[in-house]
Amino acid sequence: MVQFNLPQNSRIRVGKTWPKPEGASRLKRFNIYRWDPDTGENPRLDTYWIDLDKCGPMVLDALIKIKNEIDPTLTFRRSCREGICGSCTMNIDGGNHLACIHGIDEVRGDVNIYPLPHMPVVKDLIPDLTHFYAQHASVNPYLMTETPAPGKEWRQSIEDRKKLDGLYECILCAACSTSCPSYWWNADRYLGPAALLHAYRWIIDSRDEATGERLDALEDPFKVYRCHAIMNCTNTCPKGLNPAKAIAEIKHLMVDRMV
Ligand code: SF4
Ligand code: FES
Repeated sequence: MVQFNLPQNSRIRVGKTWPKPEGASRLKRFNIYRWDPDTGENPRLDTYWIDLDKCGPMVLDALIKIKNEIDPTLTFRRSCREGICGSCTMNIDGGNHLACIHGIDEVRGDVNIYPLPHMPVVKDLIPDLTHFYAQHASVNPYLMTETPAPGKEWRQSIEDRKKLDGLYECILCAACSTSCPSYWWNADRYLGPAALLHAYRWIIDSRDEATGERLDALEDPFKVYRCHAIMNCTNTCPKGLNPAKAIAEIKHLMVDRMV
């Protein structure tokens, strides 16, 4: 019988439990994934206790408090603290969220925090997004034109501009792509929801003059068609966008131009 085992270094061991703060009446327990490539050790789950009366309301507030006051080695990304930069995405309580706008009180029981699923880990809660960004770059996320640039600006009607609503707001946080099982198994060839949402954003931009070229580039058994409408992307997007719909629209456009 064939036996499948996880690679040795993927097994998460029990880590350190830090002491509870003294005199706290509202304690919350945080179990946080830790991995340091420099130690050669397996990942571990460290436990921290936070006094909710002395912490801001968001998960990121707790992480910053831990780093500032308990364990300065805890490593994570963050910048804007208001859901704009997309850098603090992580897996919280089993879902992908922006830690800065995810309330601690949204999590019942312990707060379990891991890096984004199925991505290589740089350290602790930091995923390696190199491939994700390369996929975004591969869809040429900018205006492509042949007409000489106008002296002042590319004009667009109000109606055409409205078509970009629900698309341009993407902050490239990667919550959608890393929640997609199809992306987990085929990320080398399937572009994933985020890159495809951006591809569609430029395909339907009335000012763009490379629509055919863009659709040609997506004609491939994997790049688009590995989307099986599982909908995790749309359900998880912290900006309320609908990448699954954008992918469906690309498929429609591909079929439309063949019939
Ligand atoms: S579509 Fe939503 S979840 Fe996906 S990268 Fe953009 S903002 Fe993040
Ligand atoms: S810190 Fe910028 S989105 Fe969370």
